[in-house]
Amino acid sequence: DTFVIIMAGGVGTRFWPFSRTHFPKQFHDVLGTGKTLLQQTVERFYGVCPVENIYIVTSLEYKDIVKEQVPFLNDEQILLEPNRRNTAPCIAYACYKIASRNPNANVVVAPADHIILKEDVFRDTIKVALGATRNEDILVTLGIQPSRPDTGYGYIQYIPDKLTVKKVKSFTEKPHLELAMQFLDSGDFVWNAGIFVWNINAFKKALKKFQPYTAEIFEEGNTHYYLETEDMFVQRAYQHCGSISIDNGIMEKADNVHVVLSNFGWSDLGTWKSLYEVSEKDEHMNVTDGNVILYDTTNSIIKTPKDKLVVINGLDGFIVAEYDGVLLICKKEDEQRVKEFVADAKEVN
Ligand code: GDD
Ligand code: MG
Repeated sequence: DTFVIIMAGGVGTRFWPFSRTHFPKQFHDVLGTGKTLLQQTVERFYGVCPVENIYIVTSLEYKDIVKEQVPFLNDEQILLEPNRRNTAPCIAYACYKIASRNPNANVVVAPADHIILKEDVFRDTIKVALGATRNEDILVTLGIQPSRPDTGYGYIQYIPDKLTVKKVKSFTEKPHLELAMQFLDSGDFVWNAGIFVWNINAFKKALKKFQPYTAEIFEEGNTHYYLETEDMFVQRAYQHCGSISIDNGIMEKADNVHVVLSNFGWSDLGTWKSLYEVSEKDEHMNVTDGNVILYDTTNSIIKTPKDKLVVINGLDGFIVAEYDGVLLICKKEDEQRVKEFVADAKEVN
């Protein structure tokens, strides 16, 4: 059987002030389509597996938001994390949960905050990957042709043979700019789409090898079930497992990683620049959403509340974003620094 795990517990810091700790971007209708990113993600998997095989992993504090946005999932399909431990524990928790239903499950792991324009191509690509992991214990990821030396992505170097599912030589999570530029120049690197496919066995093996503490906790499971509720077990598990991403924690280390090169109009709505890139631009290459009058302004993205008139003169390559009491004005090229700003802004994170 195929199962899908949707990771929806991040805070989307680099999309601040639009993405906020109490209401992160995956729960927003970012593109104005009438559906939130989470809702779009769930629907994308119709046809890949039955709806009852779709799991969402999120933070306890987003329980009500998720229930409201995907009311047709039952409670067992919404896994609630008591603490933020990044994506490795999130995936481990879900995989062990799925293993209890089917120890031979084939699993797709996907973030809740991506745009995919060609959904049919996406589903076909996923099916190719699922075909490869059905009988082989490999870790498959989807690769995207890179267009710029973005330091916000993982870079995958693959062996350029004719196979559809290619062996990976190296996986480098979020390299610094110089390295990213070298990768881009060399031509045999793709971006990691952050979407993974494997069977439960392959994942368990990798977790045991590279994140043994986390593996041990979930492997052992709730052994004192007569004293401990499921919630108490999850609390205990999350207290003990370290905070690490799947990329740093497993993908960079494993030697059985494979990649399927793909082209389905992918974009990680991770940052302001990524929203800028997928949005329609005016004749001066500006993206505006709000009540905005621009003079001598180019290459900028302006997203402000509709009830406020915003007049701008003389900006080139800027982000101007206002949401829920916070106004950000930042050079587009400095967008990776938004993380620092949020850390400094503390109480309005
Ligand atoms: N449940 C849960 N718990 N979800 C989480 C957590 C957590 O602690 N942390 C992050 N997530 C969710 C986010 O909401 C997002 O949907 C997904 O996991 C990925 O996390 P990001 O924080 O967005 O990762 P990233 O964008 O910096 O990097 C990843 O994605 C890139 C492509 O978009 C990596 O896989 C990169 O290698 C990759 O290029
Ligand atoms: Mg992301």
